[in-house]
Amino acid sequence: MGVAEEFDAVADGYDAARRRLVPCFDAFYTTAVEVAAPPLRAALAAGRTPEVLDLGAGTGLLSSLLSAAVPGVRLTLVDAAPQMLAVAAEQFTGRGVAHRMVVADLAEPLPAGRYDAVVSALAIHHLDDSAKRDLYGRAAAALVPGGVFVNADQVAAPTPELDRRYHEVWLAQVAALGSDADEIAAAEQRMAYDRPAPVAEQCRWLTEAGLADVDCFFKAWRFAVIGGRG
Ligand SMILES: C[S@@+](CC[C@H](N)C(=O)[O-])C[C@H]1O[C@@H](n2cnc3c(N)ncnc32)[C@H](O)[C@@H]1O
Repeated sequence: MGVAEEFDAVADGYDAARRRLVPCFDAFYTTAVEVAAPPLRAALAAGRTPEVLDLGAGTGLLSSLLSAAVPGVRLTLVDAAPQMLAVAAEQFTGRGVAHRMVVADLAEPLPAGRYDAVVSALAIHHLDDSAKRDLYGRAAAALVPGGVFVNADQVAAPTPELDRRYHEVWLAQVAALGSDADEIAAAEQRMAYDRPAPVAEQCRWLTEAGLADVDCFFKAWRFAVIGGRG
């Protein structure tokens, strides 16, 4: 099974497990929304519909929080897993949020358009480092001037020793939040596809991609929110 098939297989129960498997869920996603929101509000104030591109959008968790924080956005969700996107589509259709779904690999050209925010959560760490850098360049190029790129993602620790500590802490936190052995084993099976990179390197790649004001806006062990302005 590839990574998209792994996620498609759990699409229906995906959202319910997230708050257990991402122990810092609220601060992590809220920070990503706060980083992405200003250019969306600016577009609305200028009389334009703000355009959001969500990379590896899955069931649309980040897009959903963004569209609740800034009503009136138009969402483009890209993911290689059609069942994950189907869950997202049902939700956005039900809420009357303008959206389009694109089933594609992140290595393929991004959906045509210029975006006020290009966002991503827990997806880019599945790419190898050269694909991450390439994607960062294409994401930066897809922004309108002043647009924002934000990646809320799993990251590697700066050393193998700290990486082991990140995993120990994660195991203790998810168990405390009620994940049982089966849920943890399934998450670890999906983690076999993880290719996380350290925050410092990724921030350098974002700067090399042409973004300004690059920063790590949030970090709790292996979960970090990084981004910059186009
Ligand atoms: C952990 S889920 C995150 C989904 C959502 N962004 C969220 O915050 O819950 C990872 C998603 O990335 C997608 N993904 C991973 N690698 C991908 C790739 N190379 N191209 C497109 N989608 C990919 C998976 O199919 C999956 O839906």
